[in-house]
Amino acid sequence: MISGLTLDMVAPATTSNKNIEVRKASMQDIPNLLDLINGYAARGIMLPRTEFELSENMRDFMVAYDGNRLAGCGALHFYSPQIGEIRSLAVAESHKTAGIGRLIVESLVYEAKMYGLDAAFAFTYVPGFFAKVGFNEVERGELPLKAWKDCLRCAKFHNCDEIAVLRILRPQRWEQRQQTLPPVLGVDGGMVVLLPTVRHTSN
Ligand SMILES: CC(C)(COP(=O)(O)OP(=O)(O)OC[C@H]1O[C@@H](n2cnc3c(N)ncnc32)[C@H](O)[C@@H]1OP(=O)(O)O)[C@@H](O)C(=O)NCCC(=O)NCCS
Repeated sequence: MISGLTLDMVAPATTSNKNIEVRKASMQDIPNLLDLINGYAARGIMLPRTEFELSENMRDFMVAYDGNRLAGCGALHFYSPQIGEIRSLAVAESHKTAGIGRLIVESLVYEAKMYGLDAAFAFTYVPGFFAKVGFNEVERGELPLKAWKDCLRCAKFHNCDEIAVLRILRPQRWEQRQQTLPPVLGVDGGMVVLLPTVRHTSN
């Protein structure tokens, strides 16, 4: 029962604050979500979201509440029967480093498994956090073209510094799928899209 996801059903309590409630989001959460996400977006840390986008994708979202205060959020967006993206992940400044980010990711991974996905990925500026929660860095060309939808309207499209990370949920099925992958380049809206390369710098 996905909408009834509770803390006990995901990784055994990983937050130091036991009053945190993680649940699927509802439309009433939109004002709080806009504040949290767009607060980080204003600092260039996350992609901004509009009320329309949140409404359209509200079923993707998981929220973590500390009483009636939004402590964090994250979303799982499906791209194919095999893969989904963890995105719009944010923990309020006041609640960082208490395990809430991990709790939200584990909740979204649990949901991804329930839906039968083989893997979940993210584009991120915090690969260290994602490494801690079971993701590995990959070349973004390994991800499906549709996952680039947001990139196409991003100001940093030609100079992207986000890192692609992937967590494989069903190794056997993922490996089988890799054997039959189509070419990385493809067509988007009738245009052939040239994928930019991730720039990893050593300094
Ligand atoms: C990244 C973010 C979601 C992490 O949430 P959090 O609740 O503070 O993280 P947690 O407390 O669950 O941390 C889990 C582990 O990751 C580590 N970690 C947390 N933030 C980290 C970071 N920025 N870099 C490296 N490791 C990090 C923690 O130390 C912890 O490690 P441990 O298990 O060894 O103790 C939060 O800092 C945030 O909202 N940042 C701003 C928005 C953002 O960057 N979102 C990601 C977009 S993809």
